[in-house]
Amino acid sequence: MTTTADDLREEVRRRYAEAAVSATAGHAACDCGGGECCEHVSGESGYGEAHYSAEERGELPDAAVLASLGCGNPIAVAELREGETVLDLGSGGGIDVILSAKRVGPTGIAYGLDMTDQMLALAQQNARDAGVPNVHFLKGLIEQIPLPAESVDVVISNCVINLSVDKPAVLTEIARVLKPGGRVGVSDVVAEDDLSVEDRAERGSHVGCVAGALSKSEYEAGLEAAGFEQISVEFTYEVVDRMHGAIVTAVKTRRPERAGLPIVQPAASAGCC
Ligand SMILES: C[S@@+](CC[C@H](N)C(=O)[O-])C[C@H]1O[C@@H](n2cnc3c(N)ncnc32)[C@H](O)[C@@H]1O
Repeated sequence: MTTTADDLREEVRRRYAEAAVSATAGHAACDCGGGECCEHVSGESGYGEAHYSAEERGELPDAAVLASLGCGNPIAVAELREGETVLDLGSGGGIDVILSAKRVGPTGIAYGLDMTDQMLALAQQNARDAGVPNVHFLKGLIEQIPLPAESVDVVISNCVINLSVDKPAVLTEIARVLKPGGRVGVSDVVAEDDLSVEDRAERGSHVGCVAGALSKSEYEAGLEAAGFEQISVEFTYEVVDRMHGAIVTAVKTRRPERAGLPIVQPAASAGCC
């Protein structure tokens, strides 16, 4: 059976809706039956809360920590400043939006964008519990960001771009919404350059944040095509054989073109969980 890009996106939405329901019921989002980003690695260097310091975890409601499904800590590299506008792509249970809102303070704004209703409801509750008023959660796709051009200082994201079925659109949209000089600080799963799309799909599922990962040079080329400079893709730990948690940073210097990357690899990544 052929898996279309729409099928794959719906599978992602369904899986992360289940993770949100699990976290809302007081269980770790990772414990909802497998197939999320955390199916491959857990513990000290793996997914979720392990990437946050005790001090950061102390700033968050327990439910936001439980809902964490990221593969890094974008706040640690984003160098957020008072008064800035931040956008978190695929904000999940809201952990990075809440931390961003605290860093940019009352004169700044933290937006979270997610396509999954259950995640948005959980994130809104977590933000209320955290007492941060300067957050806004938006429903939508990271491939069609519902914000005006040049309205954001910093785009962050934690283990979401690998899940997109149209990565050129995501990178082009990031460039569109960023102000000139705007920054990207993203955690993601990234493959070593010699791994083919098939090699990546053999190592894990698409919903598990492995099969859809870009390689390091694909990420760099995509960002460059979208108008970014000072691009860095740095591996931080190995997720599965020759695929890594990575920190991706870049600065917008030019107006965006459409990034030249594959739109989707559904056939190779259909086998989920
Ligand atoms: C692996 S979880 C990461 C959540 C959060 N960033 C964190 O660190 O806990 C992926 C999140 O991205 C959302 N998502 C995946 N693909 C998306 C897309 N194309 N557009 C909008 N949201 C998406 C899912 O609904 C889910 O909440």
